Amino acid sequence: MNYIGGKFRILPQLLPLFPERMNRFVDLFAGGCNVGINVGGADTVICNDNICYLIDLYNEFRNNRPEQILSYIEQTIRRYELSRSNRDGYLALRETYNTIRQPLDLFILVAYAFNHQIRYNGQHKFTTPFGKDRSSYNTSMQSNLVAFLDKIHSAAIEFSCYDFEAFDFEALDCDDFVYCDPPYLITTGSYNDGKRGFKGWSMREETALLDILERLDRRGIRFALSNVLTHKGKRNTILEQWIDNHGFVIHPIASSYANSSYHTTDRTPHASMEIVVTNYTKDEIHRQ
Ligand SMILES: C[S@@+](CC[C@H](N)C(=O)[O-])C[C@H]1O[C@@H](n2cnc3c(N)ncnc32)[C@H](O)[C@@H]1O
Repeated sequence: MNYIGGKFRILPQLLPLFPERMNRFVDLFAGGCNVGINVGGADTVICNDNICYLIDLYNEFRNNRPEQILSYIEQTIRRYELSRSNRDGYLALRETYNTIRQPLDLFILVAYAFNHQIRYNGQHKFTTPFGKDRSSYNTSMQSNLVAFLDKIHSAAIEFSCYDFEAFDFEALDCDDFVYCDPPYLITTGSYNDGKRGFKGWSMREETALLDILERLDRRGIRFALSNVLTHKGKRNTILEQWIDNHGFVIHPIASSYANSSYHTTDRTPHASMEIVVTNYTKDEIHRQ
């Protein structure tokens, strides 16, 4: 999935940080599911996100045969004459989606939407403008979708739609693993601003998440947290102190962040320091 803040580009750095064997792998802020869908070694993968319309789409992907899904997409593109220049067709499909809520229409809209963004207003109407001359359902999107559907149908993947604070962490034990890729407190992703009809991300959510991870650590449950420590002159001091206080482990990531955000104009390599924090060392998991 082409998803803002998606971790596809850094998977080669991320996946080796995870244990080789896990019972449940929880991708708590799954977004485009780039991590959950590509992780190996878990008996079950749970992809969670608080955008329920996104989770409805994944469930629709899972509950229908790939041929049916691809044929629905092609028929809809033909019916609305969607192209890189047909704004009216896009707006007509957006209207239909906002009335009928056929989950697959969300996928098609995102393909043609400005910067492939998912934006809802306070009434939960999808509002992303048309991506004129930039966005379309092209052959590379189609082959990514086919690969995505293949993974969803061949692996044990479950989807859930909870605010992270309402997720049932009590059901987890020390054979399970929690990966968190939340909105970053010190960057301006479109999902932090609270203007998408869904909750934004502020200091309150940041500290609530760190508290949850601390409790998981006390119960012997391993976690990995993606984040940035510095970004364009800002520092996440809460995170820094929390890592320090608990002796958690920092794994620097050769950053792709500057390239993945449309709004980021500063492309100097050290504009942000992207990291993964774990409550174990790499040696600990590879000795097992
Ligand atoms: C950085 S994106 C995740 C990208 C994902 N790792 C990928 O590779 O595609 C963060 C996600 O957190 C979700 N999110 C934001 N606030 C949330 C909350 N309170 N509870 C659950 N999910 C939330 C957003 O909808 C967004 O999809």
